[in-house]
Amino acid sequence: MDTATIDKREDRIRGMFGHIAPTYDFLNHFLSLNIDKWWRRKTTQMVPPAGDGPILDLCTGTGDLALAYDRAAKGKTPIVGADFCHEMLRIAQKKVDSLKANDRIRLIEADAQKLPFPDNHFQIVTVAFGLRNVTDTDRGLSEMIRVARPGGRVAVLEFSQPRNRVFGGLYRFYFRHVLPRLGQMISRSKDNAYHYLPASVMEFPDGEALAERMRRLGLAEVRWKPFTFGVATLYIGVKPKE
Ligand SMILES: C[S@@+](CC[C@H](N)C(=O)[O-])C[C@H]1O[C@@H](n2cnc3c(N)ncnc32)[C@H](O)[C@@H]1O
Repeated sequence: MDTATIDKREDRIRGMFGHIAPTYDFLNHFLSLNIDKWWRRKTTQMVPPAGDGPILDLCTGTGDLALAYDRAAKGKTPIVGADFCHEMLRIAQKKVDSLKANDRIRLIEADAQKLPFPDNHFQIVTVAFGLRNVTDTDRGLSEMIRVARPGGRVAVLEFSQPRNRVFGGLYRFYFRHVLPRLGQMISRSKDNAYHYLPASVMEFPDGEALAERMRRLGLAEVRWKPFTFGVATLYIGVKPKE
């Protein structure tokens, strides 16, 4: 797929995730050998809940990072998961129901580019493997910053491109040739979601480029930590207190 032609319009992205929702969790864990669970857990450890104040997980999808935060906060912190794809949220809701966590985890259908939350509200705002799919990256990031409270943290967990020559070469072969075929076979995505995945990762900024973008939009103390040889990277910034 030509990366210059990736279509990230809202309707297409919402439809694509709506269609793969039933197989999304299985494929996430299968294609990453369960390492995705460790990445989310590590995110909650590196950006831990601190004191009171709600946490927002954007593009929450089937809710795994929101649930990881609920575990990290031992159920003591209100958590909001927001996504604009109804089918993904339905799966997240089942997980919340089975944990009997409806009193503390709320799921909301909303576009990350225009969030229905007040300014300066959340102690932590996260997004895992979602920012890359948001039509306008800067609008998504700006909304994350707007709703974070001063001194609050913004965390972006996203795929990145491993720089190690040997590992990177092997991984790229897997990511570009093996994963799309397995993903397509199992999900039967009519939008080629598992071809879109590597194509969208390859065109999305990573490392210092994304960190710099976060700084430009107003975050302070931005740092980033590659996971698993740089297959994924966690970016962390702080909303200045002014
Ligand atoms: C790859 S999934 C990630 C789900 C989850 N965060 C995880 O870690 O598995 C990306 C999610 O982003 C959501 N998404 C993409 N663009 C969005 C937008 N503009 N507003 C809200 N959700 C969006 C999709 O609906 C999808 O559920």
